Amino acid sequence: MRFTDTLPTPSAEALAHSEQLAQRIRAAIERNAGSISFHDFMQMALYEPGLGYYVAGLRKIGQAGDFITAPEISPLFSQCLANQCAQVLTELGGGDMLELGAGSGIMAADMLAHLENIGCLPDHYLILDLSPELRDRQRQTLQQHVPHLLARVVWLDRLPATPLRGVIVGNEVLDAMPVELFTVTNGVPFPVDVTIADQGFAFTPHPNPSPSRGEGLREKLPSAVQKLLLPSPLEGEGLGVRGSSYTSEFNPALPAWMRSMADTLAAGVLLLIDYGYEHADYYRPERTAGTLLCHYQHRVHANPLIYPGLQDITASVDFTAVANAGLDAGLELAGYTTQAMFLANSGLEAVFMQALEANPAKQYHLAQQVRTLSLPAEMGERFKVMAFSKGFTPTLDGFRLASRQHYL
Ligand SMILES: C[S@@+](CC[C@H](N)C(=O)[O-])C[C@H]1O[C@@H](n2cnc3c(N)ncnc32)[C@H](O)[C@@H]1O
Repeated sequence: MRFTDTLPTPSAEALAHSEQLAQRIRAAIERNAGSISFHDFMQMALYEPGLGYYVAGLRKIGQAGDFITAPEISPLFSQCLANQCAQVLTELGGGDMLELGAGSGIMAADMLAHLENIGCLPDHYLILDLSPELRDRQRQTLQQHVPHLLARVVWLDRLPATPLRGVIVGNEVLDAMPVELFTVTNGVPFPVDVTIADQGFAFTPHPNPSPSRGEGLREKLPSAVQKLLLPSPLEGEGLGVRGSSYTSEFNPALPAWMRSMADTLAAGVLLLIDYGYEHADYYRPERTAGTLLCHYQHRVHANPLIYPGLQDITASVDFTAVANAGLDAGLELAGYTTQAMFLANSGLEAVFMQALEANPAKQYHLAQQVRTLSLPAEMGERFKVMAFSKGFTPTLDGFRLASRQHYL
């Protein structure tokens, strides 16, 4: 993955697709008196029916797409995750699994194969993705890898009406949720909206100087950001950012989403894996440009307003906010650590040795996969794993050593 300011030029077909979506976004902006929130822009760019990045038929994940995820890098990742799921299913005496945002289906295939090998298959493996077009791809992947287990897989259009006993897993789902952008100038917060510009779209150029404009936003901002604000836009000295601008983002849907997760779980564990930070690190004053990033054909850049529908737009996850939303929703925080430690606690060494014995010629590739998943400078520390439980008290194996809960 390269950070770049030059991108490959999309094909004429891709540009035509993007222009169709751009027209829809422009119409939404015009209907809304000339601007929409960045959240609504990101929602349309990623999920507008038929045209958004995740719902149109482009290949996104993997070498032929725009970015690569841990389950695409190595089955060892999914096998470790399956070990953790097996512990929960065993303690519960069996149950179901639900995967959110299942991508190409490779994590489902590798987890099911491993759960079968260790004699711990779930009764059903449910898949829910906001991208219905991925279903065919997921079915093909499962058909290719575990055809005899396909009958256990059920695709859902919405969260199950009857809460499940078992495990809910989501790898890189939270980072794909639309965020609200804000800027803090001289201690006063302003929302950053999107408007129409000559060449496409632009951010609202300057915050409206009216102090009242940021007021609705103030209460919604994460507590770490509140510390950067003046006590009131019109009162004396405040902490933090003054005279300079500070831009960041937050996920406004998190509380409701975590409540829906709590409602979906009758008993068991929710496991979320993603890249992100705890509050203090996410909103540290020096991080003045937030964490928004875009992926296009394995290039990374920071302009979400170009090529709508053709590029991924993502924000790092604020794990403190996730933890708080889970607790507010009535879930227990059952674990939080780095991906490297979670994998080490979940049997990475053993699954590596098994894969090596099965195929000694792959030693170099397997070792390379372990390095990518675990090294601090690769995915090992940037990615975190957070677990919530409901009606489930045993200590989770994946979090036995090196908890990071005290950083939250
Ligand atoms: C970055 S991709 C990750 C795919 C896959 N989990 C992987 O690791 O390769 C994010 C996926 O999450 C899906 N998604 C985003 N929000 C979701 C939600 N609220 N419920 C279910 N899926 C969601 C997107 O449609 C997309 O397929």
